[in-house]
Amino acid sequence: MNQKRSGFGTRIGFELAAAGSAVGLGNLWGFPYKTSANGGAAYLFVYLACILLVGAVAMLAEFYIGRRSRANTVSAYKAISPGWGWLGLLVVVIPAMIMCYYLVLGGYTVKYALGSFVGNAGNYEKFAGNTGDVILHTAVFALPAAAIVIAGVRNGIEKAAKLLLPTMLVILIVISCVSLLLGEGVQEGLSFYLKPDFSKLTGAGILSAMGQAFFSLSLGCGAMITYGSYSGKTVDLVHSTVVVCLLDGLLTFLSGLAIFPALFHYAAVSGESLSALGMGGTGLMFITLPMVFQDMGLAGQIFSLLFFTMTAIAALTSIISILEVVTQFIIQRYKVARTRAVSIVVFACLALSVPVGISLGLDVNGAAGLQLFGRNLLELLDSITNTLLMPLAALGACVAVGWKLPKSERFSGFAGTMVRVVTPILIVVILVFGAVDMIVPAIEGKRVYSPDGFGILLTAVGIVILTVLAYFLILKNRDTGSNRDEARANARRDEAFQAGLRRGWQRPE
Ligand code: PHE
Repeated sequence: MNQKRSGFGTRIGFELAAAGSAVGLGNLWGFPYKTSANGGAAYLFVYLACILLVGAVAMLAEFYIGRRSRANTVSAYKAISPGWGWLGLLVVVIPAMIMCYYLVLGGYTVKYALGSFVGNAGNYEKFAGNTGDVILHTAVFALPAAAIVIAGVRNGIEKAAKLLLPTMLVILIVISCVSLLLGEGVQEGLSFYLKPDFSKLTGAGILSAMGQAFFSLSLGCGAMITYGSYSGKTVDLVHSTVVVCLLDGLLTFLSGLAIFPALFHYAAVSGESLSALGMGGTGLMFITLPMVFQDMGLAGQIFSLLFFTMTAIAALTSIISILEVVTQFIIQRYKVARTRAVSIVVFACLALSVPVGISLGLDVNGAAGLQLFGRNLLELLDSITNTLLMPLAALGACVAVGWKLPKSERFSGFAGTMVRVVTPILIVVILVFGAVDMIVPAIEGKRVYSPDGFGILLTAVGIVILTVLAYFLILKNRDTGSNRDEARANARRDEAFQAGLRRGWQRPE
């Protein structure tokens, strides 16, 4: 039978798609405000070190898990050991959860890109509170993602990555150059960003940098396992890991270079203090930057369009990867066509993103509706996935590769030691401190027990227990499929189509 290969066609396509997954709102939105909240340059250095030393190893492990099985995440972990398949299901649940809030944020970036010439400054509360508008833009953001994933790995994801990642890089370089040329204040911005003052770095800052590195590299959520499963047999995964980590590090670095000089410039000319501008908070992208852009007149409007378009693209290439994780599992486990699988997932996640968008809008406008454990639903989903479930899943990937694989397949040398010992220990540290910070957060220097934090931890534990149960009761003894299933089904469909055509030709007039 003529079996079409279903994976990436080229090594560079695979690497750009993985880098596209990695580069996202984490780099452009999360990194800058966390950097400014944690003292600038020192945070950048810790972050880059975490990417290269810890993140890279975990990424290599995830690529490897995918590539050796050439299957969805559940089958991939099952292939290591049937008892470990639940971890594969957990990394289908995590991206589904991420999607419900990442879609909303993606919608915000679309809204801000479109609003560049109308003026976004001061409109954050208004937009966030306008549920219809939020839903509309979330859907506008989701549609291209769905279309690209429906087109398939090679014709959709790979082609999109080859076009979008370089576009993003070019825009970011242009913005950085402009930002560096703004004059007054730029020097201060640069020294804040590039001259490390390690005395400003706290333990919490280091942990935040590590967590940020993991999220930014899309680890612990199946994306790299799924993309690894589509990588060519001859691709050197170590090489690809290095390329992806370097690209992610580079784009993160550039995002700081684009934002800090512009911010310090604005502070210098407007006379406002940086803390009044909310530099170290989550409002940096949607509240502070629009003010900076507005202050620059027409140039600022163009700047705003470029910046938010780039951010929307970054979010798009990330959401594609998490959509593919869930889609791949559904196609292979339930033997449905790609279009149907994508439609089901996108429709469900869009529906679930509606309450998330409403909850965020209420919170932004100071009304405490639709909250759980004292947080709006976006923060809640973010805490559960980022702080707890993703480190847990990344830990599982390292332990599986380091300790569970047959001896002949284990990594040797530096990567072996890292994946077996060093990286797991560091991830456990992130996980434990993250959980402690959640349950007994430090308020004005004193640790105070938070029942809400405890509730979030229990919820995460509950999700893991349900996932384990679902796996052992429903999936463990069933065929959960592999990439070959989709290729075969496509080949069958093609053949039936051709046969149909032939029959048509033979039919007498
Ligand atoms: N890495 C992406 C970012 O930095 C987020 C992401 C996480 C994407 C997990 C896919 C999977 O924004």
